[in-house]
Amino acid sequence: MKFFIDTASIDQIKEGIDFGICDGVTTNPSLMAKEGISGHDNVINHYKKIAEIVDGDVSAEVISTDFNGIVEEGKRLADIAPNIVVKVPMIRDGIKAISHFTKIGIRTNCTLVFSPGQAILAAKAGATYLSPFIGRIDDTTWDGMSLIAQIAEIYAIQSYETEILAASVRNAKHIVEAAQNGADIVTCPLSSILGMLNHPLTDIGLAKFLADHKKANS
Ligand code: E4P
Repeated sequence: MKFFIDTASIDQIKEGIDFGICDGVTTNPSLMAKEGISGHDNVINHYKKIAEIVDGDVSAEVISTDFNGIVEEGKRLADIAPNIVVKVPMIRDGIKAISHFTKIGIRTNCTLVFSPGQAILAAKAGATYLSPFIGRIDDTTWDGMSLIAQIAEIYAIQSYETEILAASVRNAKHIVEAAQNGADIVTCPLSSILGMLNHPLTDIGLAKFLADHKKANS
């Protein structure tokens, strides 16, 4: 399973790369706004910076919601760098645009996915990645992870090539369960990935090893 970092923060991306676990990056308009990035040229330049420092794919999201707007904006984003993937919302014109992008060789990430039916439509349209939002489903007291399992089963039976990019992943438990349930990729803040480092028995064990070594060598 690949790890993408879900952020528009250059510092966080650099930290993830430095740690050695950044296979790609996803962003969305909220994450761009959080970093204070606004205005067409600034947005394009920011994506350019991210695409330059990341070896893997970088999802850049359109803000248009009509077919012509999505296509025009998506082409501009795809032109930024070869590793830019155009992120398109799961709406009627979005699916139509994903089909069009597939035909002309532009890779896409279908976002805001909350049901298996939406996942089938995105795969039929040829989306490169599919982003089911786990945490936001959990927020409604439903079970986000069972959606990942269901989509993974359908995609395997139907031999769909679209990769399952588990999104809205908020903690280490989500990451482990996404791996267990067949996600190809998880995207989350670096803090969720670092959360997997922690176990008290590791800390106790290391303290004991170091204390024993010190005793034997004093
Ligand atoms: C996915 O690509 C989105 O950017 C993101 O994972 C949404 O996460 P959130 O629900 O924590 O905002």
